[in-house]
Amino acid sequence: FAILPSNQPTSDEIRDNILKNPGFGTHFTDHMAHVRWTNDAGWHGHEVRPYGPLTLDPAASVLHYGQEIFEGIKAYRHADGSIWTFRPEKNAERFRRSARRLALPELSDEDFIGSLKALLAQDNAWVPTPKDASDECSLYLRPFMIASEAFLGVRPAHEVDYYVIASPAAAYFKGGIDPVSIWLSSHYKRAAPGGTGFAKCGGNYAASLAAQKEASANNCSQVAFLDAAENKWIEELGGMNLFFVYKDGRLVTPRLTDTILEGVTRNSVLTLAKDEGLTPEERAISIDEWRDGAASGEITEVFACGTAAVITPVGELVSEDERIRLTAGGDNEVAKRLRTKLLNLQYGRSEDQYGWLT
Ligand code: COI
Repeated sequence: FAILPSNQPTSDEIRDNILKNPGFGTHFTDHMAHVRWTNDAGWHGHEVRPYGPLTLDPAASVLHYGQEIFEGIKAYRHADGSIWTFRPEKNAERFRRSARRLALPELSDEDFIGSLKALLAQDNAWVPTPKDASDECSLYLRPFMIASEAFLGVRPAHEVDYYVIASPAAAYFKGGIDPVSIWLSSHYKRAAPGGTGFAKCGGNYAASLAAQKEASANNCSQVAFLDAAENKWIEELGGMNLFFVYKDGRLVTPRLTDTILEGVTRNSVLTLAKDEGLTPEERAISIDEWRDGAASGEITEVFACGTAAVITPVGELVSEDERIRLTAGGDNEVAKRLRTKLLNLQYGRSEDQYGWLT
């Protein structure tokens, strides 16, 4: 990656102020990584350049047909000052999978991870230092790929651009690890078999927004989506995966289908859970099982997980005609234990026994 440094970098004072209270996704670092692809030349022009608006032809096909994919990954500062990412090879692999589904060119894992390293080397001062073990501040990296060819015919673009931007981040939910309320969408669906649900593409998130608006109107912070075919099986929250903790130590999460995004955190939780003596199960779980298990006390905890959300307990599921609350539990002990274990690993407070840090 060629380095083109910004001649107007943020002052230390302004940056330090931002890092004290970064929020989520509102402030951006001084640089961005970029690689261009054309049908004729393939991937070329690897660079880190000043952060700033893109120049895009109004006919760029991403603006019309949404040919776009993205990733989310965090960089953590350890106590010795070093900077680490968590399982970036998983994001690189998923990015290639998303690219294939959206008929975009695949970026090599070497270029994907190389772009993160190049941007982090340039903007390392933007990776916040956690105040204590409960502080989950990080630098959130957002790689994305867009169809930039100016062409209104409907076919895969012949010109594509890949970027990585970076944004200092605190907890995704304002309440930190306070349990969140989830809205059960009764008519909106996020994904259908054969569609793009398993790909991390902007369209999936656009499709979730009307339901998200409904959720907000009902004081809920996320939406739970059911499957499109039977309106019965729990899928995910649109931006997070779901887990259910059972009284007998089972930890159930919906099995992967082409309508569910394979979360890196989801995958890590399955591994951590086994080492915590839990019995992970990936299988179909119905809304009836959630309702009945919550009522009987069979299900003791529900939690959401994702790169942005880490692990967040779910307090209740709300819909137009019911409110599902757990009768047992309430302390979210398993969610908190897994969360601490994951964060300790990511922040270098425990040994990297799985080789997950880069
Ligand atoms: C992430 O967890 O990184 C996502 O992309 C999901 C979004 C809710 C920020």
